[in-house]
Amino acid sequence: MLSDEAKADALEHHLIAQTNSHPPFPTASEIALQIESQPIRKGVGNLFVSRQGNVKRLEPMPEKPTLQDFFRLRFTATSNHCLQSANHAMKAGMSEEVVLACLLHDTVQELIKVDHGWWSAQMYEPYVSEKVVFAIRYHQALRFYEDKEYGYMYPDLYRQIFGSDYKPEPYIEQTYQRVRKHRWYVESRMVTVNDLYAFEKGVNPTLDQFTDIIGRHFKQPHEGLGFDNSASAHMWRSMATPDHPL
Ligand SMILES: [Fe+2]
Ligand SMILES: [Fe+2]
Repeated sequence: MLSDEAKADALEHHLIAQTNSHPPFPTASEIALQIESQPIRKGVGNLFVSRQGNVKRLEPMPEKPTLQDFFRLRFTATSNHCLQSANHAMKAGMSEEVVLACLLHDTVQELIKVDHGWWSAQMYEPYVSEKVVFAIRYHQALRFYEDKEYGYMYPDLYRQIFGSDYKPEPYIEQTYQRVRKHRWYVESRMVTVNDLYAFEKGVNPTLDQFTDIIGRHFKQPHEGLGFDNSASAHMWRSMATPDHPL
């Protein structure tokens, strides 16, 4: 019954209302209630569970696996996010160490997700500088705290996955208070600033872009990752062979 003009107006109002609203975020207690409706816990690593159907057989790793081999053959769930973050950091003119920290920051989620900043830092500790380790370890805590000076806002994704009223646990709060006064705070903060949840369309960074940075800042063991007897070699082996029953 509306005139064409009135229809166009109504449609426009409808579209504006749609873009400005989203379903309400769950509360932390609603998220806690979901726990017993799932056969797996949320902190499990991507390599150990399939979100759809059964897990797939994995291609074997080369005898002496490199970081690049892990990206290609095992970091399949995390590599796009990490490449996008590193690409963003590179384009923003960040230091090579920050770019590397962005490239590696979430890859340990193939092994384990819970407390991934600390796990990731430990996994990379034998192979990268202390500053890169620091940046990776603390991005997990810093991401809960806004820093407008550096353009970091609390992400809606966390309202969705932790709950709208979630308060970080005391160890996270204490870590944040300590790290914000540290001389490498900015390096870790920059991992959160480049930690993208919405990607630019048509931007498909590849690992080749980072070959030089990896070459300069990642100490590739000549025995291969997993076989160099480092403190984190078992973590690399666990990602290489996640089907070993023990
Ligand atoms: Fe992360
Ligand atoms: Fe991330």
